[in-house]
Amino acid sequence: MNNTILTYETVSLDENECSLLILDQTKLPSSINILHLTDIHDIWNAIYTLQVRGAPAIGVAAAFGLYLEALKIDTDDYTLFNEKFTQAKDYLNSARPTAVNLSWALNRLSKTVTVNSSKTVPEIKELLRLEALAIKSEDTQTCRLIGEHGLTLIKNGDGILTHCNAGQLATSKYGTALAPIHLGREKGMNFRVYCDETRPLLQGARLSAFELIADGVDTTLICDNMASQVMKNGWVNAVFVGCDRAAANGDCCNKIGTSGLAVLAKHYGIPFYVFCPASTIDMTLKTGDEIVIEQRPSEEVTEMWYSKRMAPDDVKVYNPAFDVTEHELITGIVTEFGIARPPYTESLSKIFQDKRDFQ
Ligand code: MRU
Repeated sequence: MNNTILTYETVSLDENECSLLILDQTKLPSSINILHLTDIHDIWNAIYTLQVRGAPAIGVAAAFGLYLEALKIDTDDYTLFNEKFTQAKDYLNSARPTAVNLSWALNRLSKTVTVNSSKTVPEIKELLRLEALAIKSEDTQTCRLIGEHGLTLIKNGDGILTHCNAGQLATSKYGTALAPIHLGREKGMNFRVYCDETRPLLQGARLSAFELIADGVDTTLICDNMASQVMKNGWVNAVFVGCDRAAANGDCCNKIGTSGLAVLAKHYGIPFYVFCPASTIDMTLKTGDEIVIEQRPSEEVTEMWYSKRMAPDDVKVYNPAFDVTEHELITGIVTEFGIARPPYTESLSKIFQDKRDFQ
């Protein structure tokens, strides 16, 4: 295989130098830059500034980051260790509010500490290392399964519209919404993929288009406001998007602009699928109204990507990073345990039962 962006690891752990390696997504596609992070504040910042982004990748990065911080806690006293560990966990958890994989991964490590309270601190540190590595390898398996289920929804030559980047760059491998495309390529299939550029941070233009082209996919970039016309042209057989947090009733929160696509897809009679690992489903929330939506700095809208500021200085800016698509607009939610269909309250709780049986 040629050396392309797909040969790089999105997130990894360098055990020799005790550092977190991140493929810096803010520099793509113009330069491939691997960050070596050891300081917890730099790791927090990498999550906040989207150097690492996408719900599953954020979870993996946070797990490695918390493990590295745990290594630095210089005590053999369990209570003191747990106190400092919890402070580090809460700090990392504050980096971004919406993607549930962040708290999900940190809580997995936290559970490792609490259920092993009878072990020595060095033994707990080793268990934390194993748990963080497991989160990463499970992510690859999960994405592959999601891709296999997703591939049953499309046929060779189909047109897929996607938003933001829910591809390999957002996960350990394959991605979620783009996993069927990458897996299809492994089987010699091809699809026409329309990437929304995804204002304001351009994850579609910079990241999805980059990784799809690297995989030899027929890729067309469109501005977000062109989706309706592309659908009207009859070019789109299905919309595939990722998810940052799904509620128990099937409401799905994803990158801002996703819910508008769902409305359009309904209008044009196009199936709308959300790709969502079970780790992204938050069964504690009844509906999407309870999901905290991250608000981002106004400069992302007024200045970023422009050679000079393009908006008037005093203009108010509304810059929510995500929106919630109501479950009524979603044709199916593709998980590693299969495709959930309406009514989601029942199908998602069945998936959680399967998840419990599987563990
Ligand atoms: O702000 P981002 O780039 O982290 O937003 C990412 C998304 O909205 C993705 O669609 C979602 O996290 C799923 S990634 C498999």
